Amino acid sequence: MQVKKAIIPAAGLGTRFLPATKAMPKEMLPIVDKPTIQYIVEEAIASGIEDIIIVTGKGKRSIEDHFDHAFELEATLREKGKQDMLDSVLQTSKVEIHYIRQKQPLGLGHAIWSARKFIGDEPFAVLLGDDIVENDEPCLAQLMNQYDQTGNSVIGVQQVAPKDTNRYGIIDPISVEDKLIGVNRFVEKPAVGTAPSNYAIMGRYILTPEIFGFLGEHQYGAGGEIQLTDAIQKLNEVQPVYAYEFEGRRFDVGEKYGFIETTIEFALKRPELRNQLLELFEKKLKESYSNK
Ligand code: G1P
Repeated sequence: MQVKKAIIPAAGLGTRFLPATKAMPKEMLPIVDKPTIQYIVEEAIASGIEDIIIVTGKGKRSIEDHFDHAFELEATLREKGKQDMLDSVLQTSKVEIHYIRQKQPLGLGHAIWSARKFIGDEPFAVLLGDDIVENDEPCLAQLMNQYDQTGNSVIGVQQVAPKDTNRYGIIDPISVEDKLIGVNRFVEKPAVGTAPSNYAIMGRYILTPEIFGFLGEHQYGAGGEIQLTDAIQKLNEVQPVYAYEFEGRRFDVGEKYGFIETTIEFALKRPELRNQLLELFEKKLKESYSNK
């Protein structure tokens, strides 16, 4: 069975970006001029996903508005002949997205479980909004290919520095065949010095529907939350769950430094911004050297 549906959890409080996220979802913070969640939705669509469900929470209405028509704005842009802007606005209203609210903030595992009725008895994808991955072949498409070949759940991983392993779900690999990795154990945010490897889960998953049975146990894990990683480990005990070291550069837009780094990298790719930015950097570097 092919993977056609995807869940994008977007119910988090975004406390790392307060006060910006007091009245605005963190998923709407833009990288240059596009909200982070739009990059994620575009990756899902480019990978062949047909149905997307976004798990939202309180104060997330602007996400729904973003992926809806904005008739007044469209009419004004049309009247003024601003075709490029009109096209960019129309593009986001074309995608068909479903929404469900996570009624209590009990963790990622609980958010995914909230979408179980939408998924039914099919394999599905999960894309986390804090991870933007840049690659010609989208990250999710790479995992879907692996799913097609193995028929089993596949979790996207990349290697991180040993000092960072406590920030991620980490795998204990058994065997590595090319980039496909058999996994002994999945562990959520292991304490410093206890990580079984430096392969970290990077916010892209293909899961079989049996995962919902384990998510439904509502067992609390790391950080006092219902963790997706814990349910994946339980699934791994009854059917193989693979990890796949995907290709592409992953940007962490879920914390301040990563967000700023991503903004700079993406802005440098824009011809209208590039030269001005490089001039600014040159000036700043000179200033910092002359202050030493
Ligand atoms: C979540 C997952 C974790 C994964 C990470 C990737 O953690 O629980 O396993 O490695 O996303 O970004 P969070 O960063 O939401 O705490």
